[in-house]
Amino acid sequence: MHSIAVYPGSFDPITNGHIDLLERALKLFDNIIIAVAANPGKQPLFSTEERLEMLKDSLAQHPLKDRVKVDLFQGLLVDYVQSIPTRAIVRGLRAISDFEYEFQMALMNRKLNADIETAFIMTGMRWIYISSRMIKEVVRSGGDVSGLVPDNVQKRLTERLAGFCKNSLC
Ligand code: PNS
Repeated sequence: MHSIAVYPGSFDPITNGHIDLLERALKLFDNIIIAVAANPGKQPLFSTEERLEMLKDSLAQHPLKDRVKVDLFQGLLVDYVQSIPTRAIVRGLRAISDFEYEFQMALMNRKLNADIETAFIMTGMRWIYISSRMIKEVVRSGGDVSGLVPDNVQKRLTERLAGFCKNSLC
């Protein structure tokens, strides 16, 4: 039987930490569906289409790309998962600080649909300190994030955010 898991997130934008997690998840599941939240609680920097495009570009040359699908979801994650032949969600854990939020989210999802389980995977040590939020903050302030995000993402971030702190209060 073919095992599938959904890897949901805002991916605003995708980082090398996300790719590391995807590779780890592919050791456990045959296929991963990266599910981009169209309406995440936070106000995203990039539109849904931009986030999807960056994900697809970042994975276009990946050796495991044939086992990965990128999709979009609206509304509740559990409803999206229910529409797919799987009951598995994968999420990454970097540090203790992630735990409370992830724990709450997993339990809420379980309350909403008791058939769906969340599996947590530890991010590689190399990426333990990076997050999309921090990446954006660094680029906004003129810092270099090369090696932390795919090249296409770095380019987009620079186009969108370079000079931000010169032109506004931040
Ligand atoms: O990358 P993120 O921002 O931590 O991802 C969070 C995400 C998008 C997975 C989460 O906010 C989500 O599942 N949103 C969809 C709405 C939902 O199902 N909410 C109930 C569970 S908290």
